[in-house]
Amino acid sequence: MIPPRLIYKPGRLKILDQRLLPHKIAYTTARDAAETAAAIKDMVLRGAPLIGCAAAYGMVLELEQQGSGASGQWSVVGGRKLDSATAARKTLVAAGITLKAARPTAVALFYAVDRMLEKADLWLKAHPFDYMRFLAALRREAGLITREDKAACARMGDFGAGLLKKNSIVLTHCNAGALATMGIGTAVGVITKAHSLKKIKHAYSSETRPYLQGARLTIWELARSGVPSSLITDNMAAHIMKTCGVNAVIVGADRIAANGDTANKIGTYGLAVLARYHGIPFYVAAPAPTIDLKLKNGSLIKIEERSSDEVTFINGRLCAPKGVNARHPAFDVTPAGLITALVTEKGVISPVNKKNIVKQLSKRIAK
Ligand code: MRU
Repeated sequence: MIPPRLIYKPGRLKILDQRLLPHKIAYTTARDAAETAAAIKDMVLRGAPLIGCAAAYGMVLELEQQGSGASGQWSVVGGRKLDSATAARKTLVAAGITLKAARPTAVALFYAVDRMLEKADLWLKAHPFDYMRFLAALRREAGLITREDKAACARMGDFGAGLLKKNSIVLTHCNAGALATMGIGTAVGVITKAHSLKKIKHAYSSETRPYLQGARLTIWELARSGVPSSLITDNMAAHIMKTCGVNAVIVGADRIAANGDTANKIGTYGLAVLARYHGIPFYVAAPAPTIDLKLKNGSLIKIEERSSDEVTFINGRLCAPKGVNARHPAFDVTPAGLITALVTEKGVISPVNKKNIVKQLSKRIAK
């Protein structure tokens, strides 16, 4: 079992500190939007869908901080008065700006914030302002975003596992597992589901320099799920594909443009090129809100550039000459043409192009 990633209780969000994994299971607490945003920025939690769920709760926390708390009546907290729809909306808009500034690439963060704001607007339009009822509506919405993510993971697991053959040898990158979501994960969810159907002979996880999500998180998840697996360093991928019978590469995504170009953890693009060379299908598993139809193609996706210290230091120790220049683009974009199929909770999209994406997104999920 993977420990809960987020535990919400009115006034606080307990967040599993993924920086300490796999050595220590410990939680940190956020009490408002700024603390939630800081946790996202500092990688306490990470993974596109999980960031979105945390952001939704970050909006709720801000409202709780600024509002009345227990009494049900508006009151003055910290010198601010949350006594009107206008004040409540202002609070949420400001919280949304803070949260969206935490990390730029994963669209799930923007999706969750915008959805909470939309819910707030709809509610405020329909009901006279009542702080407690308004807060309850937003808590429900955050809960819904979380449950939808969990359900989407389960469906992607089913669709993705359906693509894999018996005795599959798969390779994944970064962490697109339970730790990145509120459910079983996207890419790793496909692997664990396929494993439960006895379809997985072996899974390889690349270590994912510089943040080591593969080494610290994915291989830990795979082992806990009983999947026969091996950790490799990133530079072993070509050799492993050539010599170890890899017959599927499956990764998650942070943002997918309308044409299918996909931003995911740095190194994903290289793996897609290698997979094409070796004739290996390359699958991307991501929930539908990861697809950003507003962006025509991947060149428009903003790529987060993180501190170069994350490259020059490992576990707090300098591993390069002091003061050397280093780059740390945290994501790269894989062209749609290298992706065999997108696996979403609505089904499998292949070939990956705008027409097929729009068609699939318009489908409703049968309940
Ligand atoms: O920087 P991270 O750890 O947030 O990057 C995570 C990834 O790139 C994942 O592959 C992606 O978010 C998909 S998670 C289901």
